[in-house]
Amino acid sequence: MEDTLKNSLRKNMLNIRKNMTEQNVSSFSLKIMDKIMELPQFTNCKSIMLYMSFNNEVDTYNLATWCLNNNKTVIAPYCIKSSHKIVPFIINNLTTDLTKSTFGIMEPKHNTLMKENIENIDLIIVPGVVFDEDCNRIGFGAGYYDRFLSTKAKNTITIGIAYDYQIIDKVPTDKYDVPLNFIITEKRIISLK
Ligand SMILES: Nc1ncnc2c1ncn2[C@@H]1O[C@H](COP(=O)(O)OP(=O)(O)OP(=O)(O)O)[C@@H](O)[C@H]1O
Ligand SMILES: [Mg+2]
Repeated sequence: MEDTLKNSLRKNMLNIRKNMTEQNVSSFSLKIMDKIMELPQFTNCKSIMLYMSFNNEVDTYNLATWCLNNNKTVIAPYCIKSSHKIVPFIINNLTTDLTKSTFGIMEPKHNTLMKENIENIDLIIVPGVVFDEDCNRIGFGAGYYDRFLSTKAKNTITIGIAYDYQIIDKVPTDKYDVPLNFIITEKRIISLK
């Protein structure tokens, strides 16, 4: 029952996101980046993991570039399809260290790059499709991030980024869902109570 609800919320929201204009994607993404940069938890982090944005997801490339130019360690997720696991790899260059996966998402060149231990990551930017004001999230539905975040250190900060319309009243959750520390949209910063 709950799963069906998650699935329909996910499907409806993806449909809305698919129809965004390129201009809104880029202007909202820049506003979200400004808000991330307001957080002391961002200023203080030495290492940051971010997803490589795809389709109309909130753009992370500007943030990744800023971090690389400002002495932060940048980490990108490599997804293992057979086990639905994420392995974090350190990237130094957005052009030469990434390659297109079979799904068309840019992923780290896992054969040559260095793995990072999740316990050493200060801050993780988490993708998602639907969120609520209690910092719950619905992702793409395979449990990649739920599995990954369940192994993080307690003091690792997690930030979900989304367009404001992706925040709904209540996201249905199950025992594996990991709430985030913050959700940031172009309009507001929501913190975990
Ligand atoms: N730590 C875990 N161990 C075992 N199964 C898990 C774990 N985390 C999630 N799952 C399973 O993965 C499936 C997908 O979960 P869910 O619908 O919450 O995905 P999601 O949060 O949208 O996806 P993602 O985390 O990839 O963004 C569910 O069947 C869930 O039980
Ligand atoms: Mg989940």
